Amino acid sequence: MSMGIFRRKKDAGQPDVSRLPCHIAIIMDGNGRWAKKRGLPRTAGHAAGAETFRRIATYCKEIGVRYLTVYAFSTENWKRPPEEVAAIMKLLKKFLTEALRDMEKNRVKVKFLGDLEPLSDELKTLIAETEKISQKYNGVQVNLCVNYGGRDEIVRAVNACMRDAGKDGAPVTEESFSRYLYTDGIPDPDLIIRPSGEYRLSNFLMWQSAYSELYFTDVLWPDFDKNEMNRAICEYQTRDRRYGGIK
Ligand code: FPP
Repeated sequence: MSMGIFRRKKDAGQPDVSRLPCHIAIIMDGNGRWAKKRGLPRTAGHAAGAETFRRIATYCKEIGVRYLTVYAFSTENWKRPPEEVAAIMKLLKKFLTEALRDMEKNRVKVKFLGDLEPLSDELKTLIAETEKISQKYNGVQVNLCVNYGGRDEIVRAVNACMRDAGKDGAPVTEESFSRYLYTDGIPDPDLIIRPSGEYRLSNFLMWQSAYSELYFTDVLWPDFDKNEMNRAICEYQTRDRRYGGIK
């Protein structure tokens, strides 16, 4: 007989804080299924997901991760029912209002990555204010990808790059090109986490993920906690990163 249902999930143990990933990126997936399992509307799943985001960001700050990037809304998510889109926008507004209120206490640098133009004026103003006030903090940086798509980001960068092309006669390099991306100045993610049992990147950080370590788990995002984060980081710490070279 399997003892599975009686076995408590073991603690992952603490990661080695001297070898933490500098930049962790997360696809916050599984909110809808989490809600459905509980007979709740999908929007309740997003609300729970937003709370998980807050807890995980706090944990990253506590242990000393420098950059945390989360996929909050993709360029494709506009296809969802308008009520769901509105609910996610409302959660973003709540997050920003609270971030502004608690800014001095939390001291987290916040940045938005994506095409913010289609967002409401109210959200745009809140975003601009949050980014401006928080840019003085130099501990942890949280990046929220909103109306973000990896291919869209690259195409925008190509267009901007072409507009500048030839000004100094220098050929485009990987380094010069990457300065046109939303992530200019942010190191590439060391670790990308996707919960909820899906094994794909879904247009997330297509350029930046070239050498990222990928970690997948069946846990749904609202259930993702410190222990799951420790598990992901411990797994990352067993990986052998060679960047195409040999040891
Ligand atoms: C994917 O789960 C999740 C999203 C498309 C939205 C994520 C948004 C939030 C967590 C809230 C806003 C964020 C912040 C940081 C305030 P899904 O709906 O695709 O889940 P499913 O695959 O189970 O349907």
